[in-house]
Amino acid sequence: MILITGGAGYIGSHTIIELHNAGYDFIVYDNFSNSSKESLNRVSKIIKKDILFEEGDIRDSITLKKVFKKYNIASVIHFAGLKAVGESVKNPLSYYDNNVVGTIKLLEVMKEFNCKKIVFSSSATVYNEVDTKKFTPLKESSPTGKTTNPYGTSKYMIEEILKDLFKSDNTFKITILRYFNPVGAHESGTIGEDPNEIPNNLMPFISQVAVGKKEFLNVFGNDYDTKDGTGVRDYIHVVDLAKAHVKAMDYLDSLLINNKPLIVNIGTGLGSSVLKMIEAFEKASNKKIPYKITQRRAGDIAKYYSDSSYAKEILGWSATKTIDEMCEDSWKWQKNNLNVNKERS
Ligand code: UD1
Repeated sequence: MILITGGAGYIGSHTIIELHNAGYDFIVYDNFSNSSKESLNRVSKIIKKDILFEEGDIRDSITLKKVFKKYNIASVIHFAGLKAVGESVKNPLSYYDNNVVGTIKLLEVMKEFNCKKIVFSSSATVYNEVDTKKFTPLKESSPTGKTTNPYGTSKYMIEEILKDLFKSDNTFKITILRYFNPVGAHESGTIGEDPNEIPNNLMPFISQVAVGKKEFLNVFGNDYDTKDGTGVRDYIHVVDLAKAHVKAMDYLDSLLINNKPLIVNIGTGLGSSVLKMIEAFEKASNKKIPYKITQRRAGDIAKYYSDSSYAKEILGWSATKTIDEMCEDSWKWQKNNLNVNKERS
């Protein structure tokens, strides 16, 4: 059985559907601090099966040990963590506590129960900024660690901890997935990204403008050294991303000997600008997305996207969904769930 920490969250909830489809058994462990039990109810309806879950925090070793005692946990997919960049700048201790301390507590319990397989949710944010003129798609070997905020630093620190853990005990089987920009939602329109407050990220913000919750979008700068002057990112459909976890699990299960932790980019290998995303969303929703060009957002990078060839080579995985599909599914989710926060249980 796989323990899915943070399994009720945006990426976790989509991943459990794909794990179920692939025949894996799992139990969700979540403190519901930034997710709701309602998302598990909805996943349950999609997969037509009850979902095993235990409420708990990864920092709470006592509860975690109880879960490891109760179930035969052979591996872990570790999503649990805080993820808002701005909030991490305001509240760094909470980010290091939840993300870094939480992961250490989880790894300690795993070690105690001789559970040594883990897939970890990292982020493209660990890569160093590259000069736009010299930009080439980011490879797993590209330099990392010059992070610009506590959220990014926490992801980088966890990667380093996992590498050191492996050096100390090479029976650990570790996969680190570096996500690019996850967007979109399940095709059912019943689960998706549900930001608690004002969304920081582009796609949730565009959806809220489309649905009339926000008047207009601020486009943070149109004077970047990119084709249309706006920021370029590698947006990836969350269902493609979810499927990458299944491939990562298959890979870990098939490993006899491992030489080092596997680090893999999970992106499409394509870059899309803010204006391109607005255009695609307008097409998908048949709504006008009013926007204003404003100043650049502090800390933003002009462009980055992945070299996604290693994922194909090592995991046999590549993204299949286009930005039109990402926008269509985001829109379906947004228009069906205007007041999803009120349904939190
Ligand atoms: C952000 C995080 C990154 C995280 C990723 C997850 C920052 C600095 N980085 O990256 O650590 O891993 O989300 O998806 O927050 N934009 C607008 N108007 C908006 C919002 C965004 O023009 O209201 C632009 C941004 O300037 C950027 C692009 O849209 O060019 C994407 O922004 P966003 O969705 O916040 O993602 P990242 O900045 O790539």
